[in-house]
Amino acid sequence: MSKKVVLAYSGGLDTSVAIKMLQLNYGYDVITVTVDVGQNDDLKSIEEKAKEMNVIKHYTIDAKREFAEHYIKPSIKANALYEGKYPLATALARPLIASKVVEIAKRENANGLAHGCTGKGNDQIRFDITMRALINLPIIAPIRDYNLNREKEIEFVKEHNIKINTESKRYSIDQNLWGRAIEGGVIEEEYKEVPDDAFNWVKVKDLPDQPSYIKIEFENGVPIAIDDVKDDIISIIEYANNEVGRHGVGIIDHIEDRAIGLKSREVYEAPAALAIIEAHKDLEKLVLTNHEIRFKELVDREWTWLAYSGLWLDPLMRALNNFIDTTQERVSGNVRLKLYKGSMRVVGRESRYSLYNKRLATYSKDEFDQSLAKGFIQLWGLQSILANEVQNG
Ligand code: ARG
Repeated sequence: MSKKVVLAYSGGLDTSVAIKMLQLNYGYDVITVTVDVGQNDDLKSIEEKAKEMNVIKHYTIDAKREFAEHYIKPSIKANALYEGKYPLATALARPLIASKVVEIAKRENANGLAHGCTGKGNDQIRFDITMRALINLPIIAPIRDYNLNREKEIEFVKEHNIKINTESKRYSIDQNLWGRAIEGGVIEEEYKEVPDDAFNWVKVKDLPDQPSYIKIEFENGVPIAIDDVKDDIISIIEYANNEVGRHGVGIIDHIEDRAIGLKSREVYEAPAALAIIEAHKDLEKLVLTNHEIRFKELVDREWTWLAYSGLWLDPLMRALNNFIDTTQERVSGNVRLKLYKGSMRVVGRESRYSLYNKRLATYSKDEFDQSLAKGFIQLWGLQSILANEVQNG
């Protein structure tokens, strides 16, 4: 009996080449798994493509809900923006896809796992570590093993009559519920502006002449309603993507440090992610103490780095999630955002846990005993003042 390998299959060039190579170069029977994380692909035709390439079995798994509940929600609570910019859409989906491949491998008694990543990106790290943490099976990455690039892959496709569109597309896209990454072509020229046709979720011209407001209601750190309609997280994200995107908000263009050491120019569209995280951060400022906020910023940053760099299953992640969840017990309330011609800003927030006390903060009434300030300042600055005195003699 020949050996069986389970491959994470997207239907694209890399993973289609991977099917054929696993069969020819490695001698495996291939089982393909396509995980739906909201990429909006034609899943039926992906299945057909796999079957045409003689895979012995194909699985399509709808994991949208799991993705939203167990990957996106924690990232909202952690205000996860890698390098202050990137909402981790791709990075969050990879450990979920890897875990589904492992599930199928167990069910099918497979002898190996495979993915179509190259040796240059972050995805290989995320797949390798998550898969290996869940099961001890060989992990095969044919594109990385054979050091293939796009040109060599196209040659391979022609040579083996693989039915896949090799016409050079202007961009290479990876998208899911939480965001859309646009790569390749002119985007690699870091000084050039990204052409308008790269964008699909965010409107770049003829923006509405009237501003819109959106109101997001949070309960324990996650959105539960948008514009007063209680809804599940998936619908809230879809609604926010449309509303925010149509006002020209949600494009990210930055230089990113891949975990592998390369710097790359990355372009994303993530209207809902940016709006929800902006609103969430604002609400935290209303309800958390300054001590909590300062410490949580460190935790959020570490959380984001672990998720980005493939360490989703590190025990530290669980510990950080526990801390974050404790802080989120009071992150409930409403935030209002205003959208207008490419700009987005928070214009109001309210919460039953608010620590903002208008009677104390106001300049007009005096429930605040100002005489307390003087002594506080003397003690607060004591060491700084002493150090200056010592230095200046
Ligand atoms: N730079 C982003 C990340 O590492 C997005 C990558 C998307 N592209 C891809 N081919 N997976 O998460």
